[in-house]
Amino acid sequence: MKLAVIGLGHTGLVVAAVLAEIGHQVHGFDIESGKRSRISRGHSPFYEPDLDSLIARGLATGRLVISRTLDEAQADAEVVFLAVGTPAANGDAPNLAEFWSAAGQVVPLLLPHAVLAIKSTLPVGTTDELIARFKAQWPDAPPVVNVPEFLRQGTAVADFLRPERVIFGSHSPAALNVMRVVYEPFKLSSETIHECRPVEAELIKHAANCFLAARISYANELANLCGRLGADYEIVRHGLAADSRIGSSFLNAGLGFGGSCFPKDLAALIKTARDAGSPFTLLEATLAANRAQVHRVVALADEMVGGLSGRKVLQLGLTYKAGTDDTRGSRALELAFLLIREGAELTCHDPAYIPTEVGSDQLFTIADDPVSAASRMDLVLIATDWPEFIDLPWSKIVGSMRSARLLDGRNLLDPTEMTAAGFTYRGIGR
Ligand code: UGA
Repeated sequence: MKLAVIGLGHTGLVVAAVLAEIGHQVHGFDIESGKRSRISRGHSPFYEPDLDSLIARGLATGRLVISRTLDEAQADAEVVFLAVGTPAANGDAPNLAEFWSAAGQVVPLLLPHAVLAIKSTLPVGTTDELIARFKAQWPDAPPVVNVPEFLRQGTAVADFLRPERVIFGSHSPAALNVMRVVYEPFKLSSETIHECRPVEAELIKHAANCFLAARISYANELANLCGRLGADYEIVRHGLAADSRIGSSFLNAGLGFGGSCFPKDLAALIKTARDAGSPFTLLEATLAANRAQVHRVVALADEMVGGLSGRKVLQLGLTYKAGTDDTRGSRALELAFLLIREGAELTCHDPAYIPTEVGSDQLFTIADDPVSAASRMDLVLIATDWPEFIDLPWSKIVGSMRSARLLDGRNLLDPTEMTAAGFTYRGIGR
């Protein structure tokens, strides 16, 4: 099928490259020309495992084309995917300016019978608002499907290629038929595809992210309690996870959740619920617990070194999680700024960090080699769960530090091993 993907960010580019890989003819467009030319040369503008090879293959076979204009991209498309960003705004609702602008340009250019498929995460009710707006303007407005995306950064290609569920939210049976054809090459079982109305599709997307976020806040507060009671959270976590009704995912304690999705979607659903007169107090507590968590880690660091002011601290990790160079909503980056505010002399190392935050690299030193950077430090603090940190030569690091203190903000390391190596070790709830 001939498809167009508008917006080539972390979601749109993966969608475009994978849809080309499974056999569709895909035209991609992004408003940023630098991004378009980088992708046209076969490179993703952001770090995502396996994506470059997929892009290169798509370009080589001609099934993936990066268009210079929106009109060119959607000229003969049977389905246009809108995947533009809906970034967090200052308040509790995301900024939809780019979304409305893109939608306003796409719709008048659509072929008759073409389908508009929305991948951008929209506050609940927005798809119906869009349908109503367009119906008022254009009598032949296209059928719209809300197709929320559940891929995770770092495993995005695999997640999109092998989805656990696909949600089609539409009022149009014809559009649902078209979407089934688009997804046919994935060879999904019929139970994997869920058809519903747009409002339900939007709710499923928000409810999934919010549920996972709630689990993380639960884990963090339980871990904090373990710390107070002298229990080891990791032992408690394993005991909990053994109950198949609970399971093991999203129970890792740490600095709190970050990224461009969980905090934003949580704030959006809280607002939706409040506006609807049905406050979601559990989610309000989830957000409050998450905001507090990074401050607890700062307090722990302060306690370990007897006051952070003037202390030399090496922070390992700045991205919001491992496997990405993204620092949007990163609790690790927030931690770095808080440590500096407390007067610490901070050096940071991250395998993928690109100093994009204004002034961040002037506030702290970036070290390429964590081992030599640890020399003369008062504290090493793990802030992102990069597996690389597990294999650092800790016995070498311990000897070079001014005082061998290790705060494992992601419970990545084995406390027994670290204590045996000579560290004063603290984790989250251990
Ligand atoms: C999340 C969802 O998992 C995806 O399904 C969804 O498609 C995506 O948001 C989105 O809405 O676009 P992502 O933000 O890539 O994906 O990252 P996750 O792996 O879910 O992690 C989110 C945050 O939670 C990270 O800061 C991570 O460190 C933290 N986390 C995760 C924990 O603190 N503990 C855990 O046990 C798991």
